Amino acid sequence: MDVVVVDGQDLLGDRGAALVLRELRADPGLVLGVATGSSPATTYRALVRARTTGVDFSEVRCVALDEYVGLPTSDPRAYDAVLRREVAEPLGVRPENVLVPDGNAADPGRAADAFEAAVRRLGGVRMQLLGIGRNGHLGFNEPGSAFDSRTRLATLSATTRADNARFFEGPEDVPEHCLTQGLGTIMESAKIVLLASGRQKAAAVAAAVEGPVTEACPASVLQRHPDVTVIVDREAAGRLTASLAT
Ligand code: F6R
Repeated sequence: MDVVVVDGQDLLGDRGAALVLRELRADPGLVLGVATGSSPATTYRALVRARTTGVDFSEVRCVALDEYVGLPTSDPRAYDAVLRREVAEPLGVRPENVLVPDGNAADPGRAADAFEAAVRRLGGVRMQLLGIGRNGHLGFNEPGSAFDSRTRLATLSATTRADNARFFEGPEDVPEHCLTQGLGTIMESAKIVLLASGRQKAAAVAAAVEGPVTEACPASVLQRHPDVTVIVDREAAGRLTASLAT
């Protein structure tokens, strides 16, 4: 694992974007795994700035990590809507090149399988951007998720519903279920970039990077991946050992 500690969210975004842009130079049709939430926001903004200098994202394929179950895709809080509005449209990614699990499918299991098949048809995710939950979740793989899990219907923990309440009227308004890439699915990405900022992420980052590899901390599975870059600000790095947090 490569751990990079930066001063502030803007630098975090610059470092994250630099990694994406390197992949894009190698392959204009980059298959990019995109997380929603606050952590990758400055990375997306830096990528949008790159677009204004002429970088072309029109051939990029964006693959979502997860989606709420039961929110219409037209709902602005659905991840399908968020990713189109905040990532694909500003970058100029073609709408048909945005792949999101179907949270409104009558049969969520089939929708999950269809999503996995679609990712395989793309040749897999080349670079996956991830945030991390305060409880160590990746995607919506809450503590206890199996390391070999695949895209599936899952239940959001109370912690996650509380954390995501800021986008809703309150925690009880946050959907209870989701479709999420499994940890096994995420681990098949060729490269992974984990982004985290703020003191509230420090314990989860330390557990993921330095703690035991255990399903109690889903993100600790990343220690088994051969190509992971963790980019954190000083606050999120606050509980890492001194040797790493330089
Ligand atoms: C987002 C996702 C989640 C978030 C995590 C951190 O698609 O799957 O795992 O990455 O909850 O959220 P933020 O970045 O908002 O702190």
